[in-house]
Amino acid sequence: VITCDGSVQHLSCDTGLINVMSAIYGRTDKRICTTGRPFSEIQNTACVLKIPIISARCNGLRQCEFKTDTLGSPDPCNGTDKYYNTTYNCIKDVSVTCEDGYSTLDCGNDVIQIINANYGRTDSTTCSHGLPDTILADTNCYASGTLSIVATKCNGKSSCTVQASNTTFKDPCFGTSKYLTVSHHCLPHPVRNDFLFPIHSIHFKKSNALQSRSTIFGAGVLNIHNANYGRTDSTACSTGRPSSQTSKTDCYATNTLTEVTNRCEGKSSCVVPATNSVFSDPCYGTYKYLSIKYSCVVAITDSDAHTDRGLHT
Ligand SMILES: *[C@@H]1O[C@H](CO)[C@@H](O)[C@H](O)[C@H]1NC(C)=O
Ligand SMILES: *[C@@H]1O[C@H](CO)[C@@H](O)[C@H](O)[C@H]1NC(C)=O
Ligand SMILES: *[C@@H]1O[C@H](CO)[C@@H](O)[C@H](O)[C@H]1NC(C)=O
Repeated sequence: VITCDGSVQHLSCDTGLINVMSAIYGRTDKRICTTGRPFSEIQNTACVLKIPIISARCNGLRQCEFKTDTLGSPDPCNGTDKYYNTTYNCIKDVSVTCEDGYSTLDCGNDVIQIINANYGRTDSTTCSHGLPDTILADTNCYASGTLSIVATKCNGKSSCTVQASNTTFKDPCFGTSKYLTVSHHCLPHPVRNDFLFPIHSIHFKKSNALQSRSTIFGAGVLNIHNANYGRTDSTACSTGRPSSQTSKTDCYATNTLTEVTNRCEGKSSCVVPATNSVFSDPCYGTYKYLSIKYSCVVAITDSDAHTDRGLHT
């Protein structure tokens, strides 16, 4: 959705919940929002400011509306007329569980990643059948911390069950009948193996240094499970190598996990050179490789956990 500067932006999902992919203030197109604008103000199409507050406000809601004029600061391109360009999708994997029910999420062979969750009430129709209007009237009810509680119970598991009750979450609106909404993705099993091209000889170290790096990244932040620089089987990274360099399979650099953790844990991406200078040489004469087992976990910060609508990045 594109909104000219100063107008109201409206996001909505007929089914599912809003999940903002990108929210940009600026100008990347000459043809949009041009009415009555002088040519000089629409020429610059390289003006981009990301507006993270839009996903913070809108993710997980069915609809979301805001006046744009106060959001785009600092001005990314003075003198250019700008507009708001928000790209979002509607996540349909939303489960709704009425108060005191149990919500079970199941990803089969994959693992759960929670996108957003709220225990409370945000409309008067969900979970309302047969209930008096008086306990449905508060539609601005959010239990802060829902996202972090549900994410802690479910992220990385293939299935999980959460009770929609005020013992799981603190009662955010006493006297109102509540429900739990949870949106989630199913991700491939998160433990990945990353094999790096090795360096076996000091002579090649300089020329190969750039190729022998691994860049690992993904959604969320890195959680390092295990790592080894050395050789534990004879087939990995063996192409074109004489068997004398690949037959030793009990080669471990004991500082690998510490080194990789220091460089990568909790970051969204990192670079680790697979070199003797980083890990020292655990088996001279053997062609080595760096193997890292890691997963990508959603980062939940304190401020997210205490935001009513659960900022999720
Ligand atoms: C709006 O943003 C999307 C995603 O970044 C981009 O593909 C599209 O070209 C942009 N549209 C305009 C008119 O700037
Ligand atoms: C923006 O440009 C106008 C006119 O060119 C100038 O008066 C104003 O001080 C500028 N504002 C900023 C923040 O640079
Ligand atoms: C928790 O929920 C139950 C069932 O709806 C209700 O009876 C009870 O009063 C609630 N407790 C608090 C502290 O809100």
